[in-house]
Amino acid sequence: MTLSTLCPPSFGPLTRLAGLAALLIALPLQGQAADEVNVYSSRQEDLIKPLLDRFTEQTGIKVNLVTGKDDALLQRLQSEGINSPADLLMTADAGRLYRAKTAGSTQGVSSEALTMAIPSTYRDPEGHWFGLTLRARPILYVKGKIDPASLSTYEALADPAFKGKICIRSSDNIYNQSMVASMIAADGAEAAETWAKGLVANLARPPKGGDRDQIKAAAAGECDIAVANTYYLAGMLASEDAADRSAAGVIGVFWPNQEGRGAHVNVSGAAVTAGAKNKETAIRLIEFLASPESQQWYAEANGEYPVREGVQVSPALAAWGTFKADPLNLEQLGELNADAVRLMDRAGWR
Ligand SMILES: [Fe+2]
Repeated sequence: MTLSTLCPPSFGPLTRLAGLAALLIALPLQGQAADEVNVYSSRQEDLIKPLLDRFTEQTGIKVNLVTGKDDALLQRLQSEGINSPADLLMTADAGRLYRAKTAGSTQGVSSEALTMAIPSTYRDPEGHWFGLTLRARPILYVKGKIDPASLSTYEALADPAFKGKICIRSSDNIYNQSMVASMIAADGAEAAETWAKGLVANLARPPKGGDRDQIKAAAAGECDIAVANTYYLAGMLASEDAADRSAAGVIGVFWPNQEGRGAHVNVSGAAVTAGAKNKETAIRLIEFLASPESQQWYAEANGEYPVREGVQVSPALAAWGTFKADPLNLEQLGELNADAVRLMDRAGWR
């Protein structure tokens, strides 16, 4: 658009300038009202903001970010209902994304770009949520104390040979609930419960702390084996804290069930909210986060794996080698969550 199309030629230069100034002021305001997206995110701001800023630069769509704890955001969204100001929920674990769906907090959307970019196992079949980063939960061991050749499967961790050697966090954590759900899917509920009892009998100490604490306990000699998500180990290896780095340095990564179904994986992802007022821009943001360029940065910043195939992993993760991931559709983790929770309780997994 040129100046002459904005102002009739009969207008004087001052009027023209005033007209142009008014237009320049009016345009961004108009753009802001229409082109924005409101995000509730449990991802730390510094692990997502640079990407959101790049999205705004490329599209002109303003992103309003509210961060909070996973379960608190889910509750907030549910209590706000369709009046929620949020258009997009970003949270971790397929079990949690499934909870948001069953609570009626999300809506199904379709996007060819997302269907193409994200393998079907890592998104809701009805488009209620899309996995954006992949997190793996392998077996970690203390190098020099455990011969990795003695490790094989999650199931084998219930073997009495590992009595008093294992650290794992409590059963009220969704990561373990999802892992047990994957075992129910693979082995059946009865076998999964027998396994959980065997695992509890092999624990070096009553479950306490988060994944990072299990790694630290192993490094400190409290146990020889831990089960934890790899991004915690990656985070400790890159930590500014020398104690974290040296603890992580003695830990090896073992990929279990490689002869069978593969290692347990989960996702962090995004869901368009049930009452989204900016549905189209919300979908555009998910598509942006699933693009090859974003995938690499996003996974790397979080120490996770890209969900999209063919995207390079960070050098720290590449050092642990490639692995076969359990191809279970992650929707199952949500569907089997209640069974997993009850089973873990019966097995005495506190
Ligand atoms: Fe985590």
